[in-house]
Amino acid sequence: MDLRLAGHGALVTGSSSGIGATIAETLADEGCEVLVHGRNAGAAAAVAERIARRGVRAEVVLGDLTEPGVAEQVALTARDFGAHILVNNAGPFTEHDWESSRPADWRAAFEGNVLPTVRVSQTLLPSLRAHGWGRVITIGSRAVRTPLPNMVTYSAAKAAVVNMTTSLARHLAGSGVTANCVSPGVIVTPSMYRMWQERTAADDGRGNGSDAAGEPGEPGEPDEAGIVAQYAPNPVGRLGRPEDIASAVAYLASPRADYVNGIELRVDGGITGTP
Ligand SMILES: NC(=O)c1ccc[n+]([C@@H]2O[C@H](COP(=O)([O-])OP(=O)(O)OC[C@H]3O[C@@H](n4cnc5c(N)ncnc54)[C@H](OP(=O)(O)O)[C@@H]3O)[C@@H](O)[C@H]2O)c1
Repeated sequence: MDLRLAGHGALVTGSSSGIGATIAETLADEGCEVLVHGRNAGAAAAVAERIARRGVRAEVVLGDLTEPGVAEQVALTARDFGAHILVNNAGPFTEHDWESSRPADWRAAFEGNVLPTVRVSQTLLPSLRAHGWGRVITIGSRAVRTPLPNMVTYSAAKAAVVNMTTSLARHLAGSGVTANCVSPGVIVTPSMYRMWQERTAADDGRGNGSDAAGEPGEPGEPDEAGIVAQYAPNPVGRLGRPEDIASAVAYLASPRADYVNGIELRVDGGITGTP
């Protein structure tokens, strides 16, 4: 199926690595021009080079979205690039529980996940409206529907992101601009890999090995079957891949999805279940 994305421009925040990089490359595969974003100049340039090799325009914009004024500047660069598809992907996750989390941890979760989405979207909306067609796609998490007791700040911030998607979709009524959310399950990315390695190291340090994040005898090597069993039991029976998320984003970004608005599309192998 031709998604009819050729020639559209897109900004994908946090596309210098992980899920965002795969979203950027998948949109490019569909003919989109892509503005790659991140903080690491070398990593962002590498993604942009891979995209340019596909014969579509790719540029880079850098900046920490939690710094004052940066989200707005990134959005203005996207406006000038001609991006009418915004993918709010950047959203750091850290582990905190109810006993240990401090106000600064809660602030960091919201400053990393909620405010960049608000600030980039607000700044870009006038040009999307003027264009009469546009997409705001925000990356949520399975933690929205199944809040994680070891990631309480992140779970709450991602719930806010889904809530915001609904109000934004209604706010944009009649504009030709839709707002949707894609909530990944547990996806194999560099950040998740680092988290599993830390858990494995912590378990090894306690001398009990890990039945969830590493096979005995292979310290530091995450064990997919163990992680699925303990952290991500889902009917599909595997971890997610960035491509799983990117395919969903590409569909929602496309004109094929003109009638899909205000949804949370869960791409999680069924981990959250359906009533
Ligand atoms: N992986 C999962 O299992 C999973 C599950 C559910 C939801 N999600 C969500 O999916 C999205 C992508 O996840 P991921 O695993 O691909 O994450 P990731 O590997 O941590 O993504 C890192 C990307 O985000 C950028 N980034 C992070 N903080 C930033 C900041 N303050 N300012 C600017 N850029 C920033 C990084 O830029 P630099 O590296 O250039 O600094 C990089 O491009 C996130 O919203 C995450 O919460 C992930």
